[in-house]
Amino acid sequence: MSNRSIAYQQEIELALKDKIYGSHPKELYEPISYIMSLGGKRLRPVFVLMACDFFGGDTAKAIHPAIAVELFHNFTLVHDDIMDNAPLRRSQPTVHEKWNGNTAILSADAMMVKAYQELCKADNSMLPKLLDIFSDTAVKVCEGQQLDMNFEKLSKVPILHYLKMIELKTAVLLAGSLKMGAIIGGARDEDAQSLYNFGKHIGIAFQLQDDILDVFADSEKFGKQKGGDIIANKKTYLLLKAIELAEGNRYMNEELQQWINAPEFNAAEKVEAVTNIYNFLNVKELAHQEMKKQYDIALKHLHPIPVTQSKKDELISFAQSLMVRQI
Ligand code: IPE
Ligand code: IPE
Ligand code: MG
Ligand code: MG
Ligand code: MG
Repeated sequence: MSNRSIAYQQEIELALKDKIYGSHPKELYEPISYIMSLGGKRLRPVFVLMACDFFGGDTAKAIHPAIAVELFHNFTLVHDDIMDNAPLRRSQPTVHEKWNGNTAILSADAMMVKAYQELCKADNSMLPKLLDIFSDTAVKVCEGQQLDMNFEKLSKVPILHYLKMIELKTAVLLAGSLKMGAIIGGARDEDAQSLYNFGKHIGIAFQLQDDILDVFADSEKFGKQKGGDIIANKKTYLLLKAIELAEGNRYMNEELQQWINAPEFNAAEKVEAVTNIYNFLNVKELAHQEMKKQYDIALKHLHPIPVTQSKKDELISFAQSLMVRQI
């Protein structure tokens, strides 16, 4: 990570540290403080600040929108963990586990409203554009999340549909964060759009890495339940490639299909068996190749933007650090 991105991350942490979201009823607000204070990489708000600075803007003007995207992101995580039946987030119990499902739904709803309130503190002159980007992004995340759930039930999903799904559920928020920062920084619309496209492909690569980590991360650091995607039959890049490759191997195919279709199973056994199949078929390597491809496409979108190479290098070095992340 570049020094600048670390400084931005600290700035975000500081802005969030003593933030009070409300007090009564405490069942509504405590989960918000809980999830917001569990840490996380804060990369979306860092992207807002970096993009603003990229175009020579005053990052003080970007801080509220940056907090807004982090609030929005955390809202999606709380709902995502309900939808994915996830027990752990950032190494701690998920909100619906610690409280209950209804509390998690409502607290997250309030976070989404708070995200809009935070965004509305931005300069009036920029607000219409920012609201447009933010709302467009938010609804796309919902579309992606619904597709993610739909795909759990399908036996086959074309890779192109998978890539579109992760673009929606994950990549557009990274892209939108960059575009908002760019607009605040005074970028021309076409340059803000180039940065959006950069973020979109970095975001796709980011979700591919997320799929890989879900299976292969070092569990000590990871902070989420390992193998959650396998348990839920999530159509990750790994699973889709495994399904495709197993077609040429009758034994492998039967074994994989049996685990996918098993109505009841021991979770640890399923995770181990499917991981073995992934290893045998070497699908992690294929996912890495797709990541690399997306990363290279991302970099191409920086070319036409008229800012200095050293500015671009800062952004590239931050993006590069995301590609090799372990958590
Ligand atoms: C997790 O996002 C959800 C995905 C889109 C993969 P992050 O990996 O950015 O989570 P935190 O905020 O750092 O915990
Ligand atoms: C999450 O994808 C995308 C959103 C939260 C919108 P995942 O379900 O893979 O994210 P994690 O792995 O739970 O963080
Ligand atoms: Mg999840
Ligand atoms: Mg999910
Ligand atoms: Mg995941």
